Amino acid sequence: MGRMTADDWPPGFFDRRDGGDDADFYLPPRFVTHIDEGAVAAVAELYDELGVPDGSVLDLMSSWVSHLSSRPGDGLTVLGMNRAELEANPLADRVVVQDLNVDPVLPFEDAAYDAVVCCVSIDYLVDPVAVLRDVRRVLRPGGVVVLTFSNRCFPTKAVRGWLSTDEDGRVAIVRAYLERAGFADVTTALRTDRRSSGDPLYAAWARSG
Ligand SMILES: C[S@@+](CC[C@H](N)C(=O)[O-])C[C@H]1O[C@@H](n2cnc3c(N)ncnc32)[C@H](O)[C@@H]1O
Repeated sequence: MGRMTADDWPPGFFDRRDGGDDADFYLPPRFVTHIDEGAVAAVAELYDELGVPDGSVLDLMSSWVSHLSSRPGDGLTVLGMNRAELEANPLADRVVVQDLNVDPVLPFEDAAYDAVVCCVSIDYLVDPVAVLRDVRRVLRPGGVVVLTFSNRCFPTKAVRGWLSTDEDGRVAIVRAYLERAGFADVTTALRTDRRSSGDPLYAAWARSG
């Protein structure tokens, strides 16, 4: 497969090497951090800048850590695949186990959240635009969606298009996901120092209209 650009998702883009059930892959809990300390700090700093901890927050594809600097004022819902990880998340008020690749519809009311975040996980979704359209529905007007990612992943579970491009290509892919889901004014940025040898932390965010 040739180099992907965000504007053409050819057949096979959303295929994965491991097409098996995500529930099997995520059955064993992984109490690890998937990015280094500097990248984790960059996530928390961006959330603070965007006021994420000030309202009600949904952390999609979450685990035992949500990288927030403080407990969100109006509660934190964590949604992911592994119940033990989610229940160990010290900031979480509500835990939801749901496979977004089986059911991309979020089990929440319209306009329920001020912020929806998803850290180092967007590359595992086989229909990210469907999920992000539903993120728009559950966000309050003016609410923010924040997607962060690095250069590491579980390669058997990431979509082929993601693995077939470079870091700039992935920024373009995530921007395109958000735009196709109906988010306008998407901002993208590298939030770690380009000269650092640590994990890079890229982000894309947008406010709901
Ligand atoms: C690399 S980990 C990142 C976890 C956490 N967001 C973090 O920053 O450490 C990927 C996470 O995506 C979740 N995940 C993977 N596939 C999923 C799916 N199909 N539906 C919902 N969550 C999924 C897993 O539960 C796992 O916790």
